[in-house]
Amino acid sequence: MYTTIIGESVTEAADWLNSGKVVAIPTETVYGLAGNAFNEEAVLRIFKAKNRPHFNPLIVHTHSLDMVAAFATDIPDAAVELARAFWPGPLTLLLKKQAIIPDLVTAGSDKVAIRVPAHPLALSLLGRLAFPLAAPSANPFGYVSPTTAAHVHQGLAGVIPYILNGGPSGVGVESTIVDIDDNKLIIRRKGGISLEMIRAVAKVEVLQRTHAHEHPVAPGQLKSHYATLTPLYTGNLPELLNRFAGSRIAVIGFGELAEASGYANFNLSEKADTDEAARNLFRVMREADACGADVIAAALLPEKGIGAAINDRLKRASVVNKAW
Ligand code: TXA
Ligand code: MG
Repeated sequence: MYTTIIGESVTEAADWLNSGKVVAIPTETVYGLAGNAFNEEAVLRIFKAKNRPHFNPLIVHTHSLDMVAAFATDIPDAAVELARAFWPGPLTLLLKKQAIIPDLVTAGSDKVAIRVPAHPLALSLLGRLAFPLAAPSANPFGYVSPTTAAHVHQGLAGVIPYILNGGPSGVGVESTIVDIDDNKLIIRRKGGISLEMIRAVAKVEVLQRTHAHEHPVAPGQLKSHYATLTPLYTGNLPELLNRFAGSRIAVIGFGELAEASGYANFNLSEKADTDEAARNLFRVMREADACGADVIAAALLPEKGIGAAINDRLKRASVVNKAW
């Protein structure tokens, strides 16, 4: 047990990490629970702190594209092009791993997930360490991802020594995970970089295969991810309000797709700005979960840009998907 400190000291975070411990770090997507990716004991501590099953691999974070050759090999041109376009930023690339990355990090896969996060504190921390950081989102396994230091504290107080506070995450949904196979780019998880953005820079075919329910390639695609404790339903709000009439309903809306007639009402973005909605998503899901409602009813956004990633998170948080 630790007395978990929330602070802004990159030095203190580095000290804990250099001694093999895990700390929470800010990124532009969500907060990460970071440990030395070369050190199996540190990686084991991450799994333990999150209560995460070992078959679910971790993303390795580094501070520049130049570092990637130290952990990955046979890097396709299409991957380098994406990295040049979107790093630092919410893009994760699946690349053939080198032996220096423990199998525990990749759950036995011969590919390692790598990204360069865009948060200045994360980059400053990574720049002063002699190793990359393995980091899943800093939430107990299965729960909603954290976008503030306070969210991390709610889930992991006592379990980790330090939370590096970098303010609220600016993007608000996790990175887009891209695999490269047979000179094609395959989106495995929707995220902060949209399909449209990737298509705009890619010189090769871009596919989206994020629905591998039975044999997930990215096990983050598993059931009851991002789940609130309060049952959450997605769909048409008037219909949901009707269906749950008599219950206390927390409504999550977007722009015009909002209702003011719930027990508690949240709007991801009153001006229907999808970037703002992404930034607010996990905070609003947590607030809706904590407001005393019996059910949460969430509207789905237009399925374009980062709206597709928001819809993905809402659908995977929904009770329908918990039954997979
Ligand atoms: O934005 C993000 O990606 C955040 C921040 C902290 O960087 N991290 C994050 O990590 O979302 P996590 O662990 O919550 O989700 C990582 C996803 C999981 O679905 C995992 O299965 C997948 O990445 N993944 C990691 N390594 C993989 C690998 N070698 N092959 C396939 N999928 C992998
Ligand atoms: Mg996660």
